[in-house]
Amino acid sequence: MSAKIIDGKAFAAEVREKVAGHVSRLKEVHAITPGLAVVLVGDDPASEVYVRNKGKQTLETGMNSYEHRLPAETSEADLLALVERLNADPAVHGILVQLPLPGHIDDEKVINAIDPAKDVDGFHILNVGLLGTGQKAMVPCTPLGCLMMLRDHLGSLSGLNAVVVGRSNIVGKPMAQLLLRDSCTVTIAHSRTKDLAAVCRTADILVAAVGRPEMIPGDWVKPGATVIDVGINRVPAPEKGEGKTRLVGDVEFASAAQVAGAITPVPGGVGPMTIACLLANTVTACCRANN
Ligand code: GUN
Repeated sequence: MSAKIIDGKAFAAEVREKVAGHVSRLKEVHAITPGLAVVLVGDDPASEVYVRNKGKQTLETGMNSYEHRLPAETSEADLLALVERLNADPAVHGILVQLPLPGHIDDEKVINAIDPAKDVDGFHILNVGLLGTGQKAMVPCTPLGCLMMLRDHLGSLSGLNAVVVGRSNIVGKPMAQLLLRDSCTVTIAHSRTKDLAAVCRTADILVAAVGRPEMIPGDWVKPGATVIDVGINRVPAPEKGEGKTRLVGDVEFASAAQVAGAITPVPGGVGPMTIACLLANTVTACCRANN
């Protein structure tokens, strides 16, 4: 293995420490405690784990955490009424409605009902537009975490060829916007891209965000490239015993690590950075609301 392993877990711990420092100054100097409200509708087990971790880390950094757990059959009107209450609550600086929502609720309607200034996910259409036009926006947490790791490893990204595999609103598109803002030459590739392997091989920065286990092998990676693997896929692991599973990324780690200059592991890469950036966005929202 030749690649440097980018340790997202350690980096996220540093970000959380900085966030905790900001929080303690806000408390001491301005008597303000940032507050994050997280709304979970239904009992999707993966969402349960994320929401629990978000609440725990919010409290650990000294902020207030408000969890709202609603049954799966909650009506869209009731959810919108809760969002309105949180919008109006001065103790709440950030609002996150955990996705996916149950099928009878319109995700976009709910997201766009959140006050854009409290939209710590950066999913509100106003924040999408602000990011796309290079203005001051709330930036989606996962791509923000990826950008921080890239800047930390590479310094300036200016002029580098970046390929983002995946075109989701949550990761692929905002990631491409952030890389463009840092003066990369950006390609967004996806399932219909012709000769995806050849496109990937042009990348100085390769961001994989497709949600398909190990679909990018090492021979698609340009020697020396920086590889950011956003995928978190659970796959069977019969070698660990019957019914056991393990987590893998969208990149075939072992082969890619032979070729890349640096690579994020799964787990322990992008994942921990997402929540750390959510906490950072909450402090940002709090500061903007109070200056
Ligand atoms: N579900 C999976 N990832 C996310 C995220 O970043 N934000 C929200 N709100 N829901 C998610």
